[in-house]
Amino acid sequence: MSDQKMTGDVYYPSPEIVQSAHIPDFDAVHAEATADLPGFWGKIASADFEWYKPWRKVLDDSNAPFYKWFVDAKVNIVHNALDRHMRTATRNKAALIFEGEKGDTRTYTYQQLNHEVCKFASVIRSMGVSKGDRVTIYMGRIPELMIAMLACAKVGAMHSVVYGGFSTEALLSRIDDSDSKLLITCDGAWLRGKIIKLKDIANGAVDRAGTIQNVICVKRTGHEVEMVPGRDHWYHDLMALPIASADAETEVMDAEDPLFILYTSGTTGRPKAILHTHGGYMVGSATTLKWVFDIKPEDVWWCAADPGWITGHSYIVYSPLVNGATSFMYEGAPTFPYPDRWWKMVEKYKITILYTAPTAIRGLMRFGESWPNRYDLSSLRLLGSVGEPINPEAWKWYHRVIGAEKCPIMDTWWQTETGNFMITPLPSVPLKPGSATRGFPGVQIDVVDEEGDPVAANEEGFLVIKSPWPAMMRTLYQDPDRYVDVYWSRFSEQGWYLPGDSAKKDEDGYIWVIGRIDDVIKVSGYRLGTAEIESALVSHPAVAESAVIGVPDEVRGNIIKAYCILNAGATASESLAEELKAHVGTEMGPIAKPSMIELVDSLPKTRSGKIMRRVLRAQTMGQDVGDLSTLAD
Ligand code: WTA
Repeated sequence: MSDQKMTGDVYYPSPEIVQSAHIPDFDAVHAEATADLPGFWGKIASADFEWYKPWRKVLDDSNAPFYKWFVDAKVNIVHNALDRHMRTATRNKAALIFEGEKGDTRTYTYQQLNHEVCKFASVIRSMGVSKGDRVTIYMGRIPELMIAMLACAKVGAMHSVVYGGFSTEALLSRIDDSDSKLLITCDGAWLRGKIIKLKDIANGAVDRAGTIQNVICVKRTGHEVEMVPGRDHWYHDLMALPIASADAETEVMDAEDPLFILYTSGTTGRPKAILHTHGGYMVGSATTLKWVFDIKPEDVWWCAADPGWITGHSYIVYSPLVNGATSFMYEGAPTFPYPDRWWKMVEKYKITILYTAPTAIRGLMRFGESWPNRYDLSSLRLLGSVGEPINPEAWKWYHRVIGAEKCPIMDTWWQTETGNFMITPLPSVPLKPGSATRGFPGVQIDVVDEEGDPVAANEEGFLVIKSPWPAMMRTLYQDPDRYVDVYWSRFSEQGWYLPGDSAKKDEDGYIWVIGRIDDVIKVSGYRLGTAEIESALVSHPAVAESAVIGVPDEVRGNIIKAYCILNAGATASESLAEELKAHVGTEMGPIAKPSMIELVDSLPKTRSGKIMRRVLRAQTMGQDVGDLSTLAD
């Protein structure tokens, strides 16, 4: 793409960055991948990864959309993340540098991390956890969370990590749905100087969950917690027993065997369990990290997400280790005790690459430049953004104040379902603030209308993905029909994947993601479903019916507004509205708490009884409510 032809506000990479990047010429690599997709991925899979047994075929699309990658190969992602590094000098390199909110620090070399993972794998094996079992993990952002995930993968069990910001009901439904037999948790997590009492919340769920046989609890905050004898065990006690043998075999898995499930919100009903595999997910997540963030041996990589979401799974836990990189992990809030916390740590640990969400950037931007300006941020060479569209103002602040106008910003669009970056620049690609640029090599992206025809430049349409990729989800756990229905039925004739986002494509083919087209709300980058929040509200005795919408917010992207119809007998009041907010906090978790509640007598519905959230949104924002012909009354 020649420079002259590009439109709009364009930031070109410096020649030094282009020359030193893993992929200096995006177009050439994209063309190669497009010409022969299986050949392209087969070559990468052979060069950069170790397999116990090679594949018979790279891609099997005979039963699409149930695609298979690296058919009949044997592998374990942990073999590539840890085991193989024990034979090289990487074993003495820092795998993980951790800082707690209170300032405590820990560093694990690859060798030390492997030692812990082996011991913990032996512990859970001795509890009867084996290949195919489900284990729920509910913890704060601490190294043991990573150790627990890796130990599960090592023994072939699927982990299901539930984000520590969720509460009892959310945890319970995810334990029940997955039939987990083991829960790994911690006593508490530090956040903004306070303790989130995770074990208490977990007890509320485990007491009611039918399947949990054992609970393992890491001591983090050290406050008094209730441990049920026979069921609950301290992590440190188990790790001191002879059963915690450091001599642990890594289970030989089929490339297509499940690695984990991760619940995420969808349009209707209960959360969906997205299923990822050992082989394809490993190849895709590690390659995207290496190319997009240009990982070099000397980098200190900081993905500031939470391991409880896909960003943390792919880019804190698995892909940095597979690449033999050094990762940094921070437990707490960016503003604790002051809004300079992050910048202080960038200076202290000489972070070279920082990857975070627009909401965090906007939140820190509010405090002004003087906080970051007090620190030496010159170690940074690349920046990243994920989770929601980044507004050009935040992009430019991030670029100028944090990146000193020398760090390209990788705005990565992807989803829990996609497993890895899908629309993303590489360091060698010209950038436009607010656009995630183009599909990763081999990823065919388009923006189309109802019929599937490409829309004109700068017109809004459905984002679609026209080609399979190795890290794609394989199915929804125990719900293959819903997998086909939600993602592959809208453009079934063409065989395209529907992410559920709307977007525009400009004259240069750059993609501008606008937002969700379904009832998913992104609050501070966290993905929440209206259905789950509504059912939390309706579980309160005063509420008969409710509807939840997202309302744009300058810092958080969206905030939650709930409309509730009360039951006969309940009286509307300020204090009831406050009680309902708190109720959602207890049931679902603080992140799902509505910022506003309006108590109403009726809700706009279609004649078939479906709530018209579009009308509520338009009303709230003082916009034209549009076509009301389907409204019941
Ligand atoms: C949104 C997060 C614009 C999008 C990795 C997507 C983005 C949803 C971006 C998936 C981005 C993520 N620009 N929008 N760079 N990244 N999104 O599953 O709506 O938590 O469908 O995965 O986040 O959210 P999820």
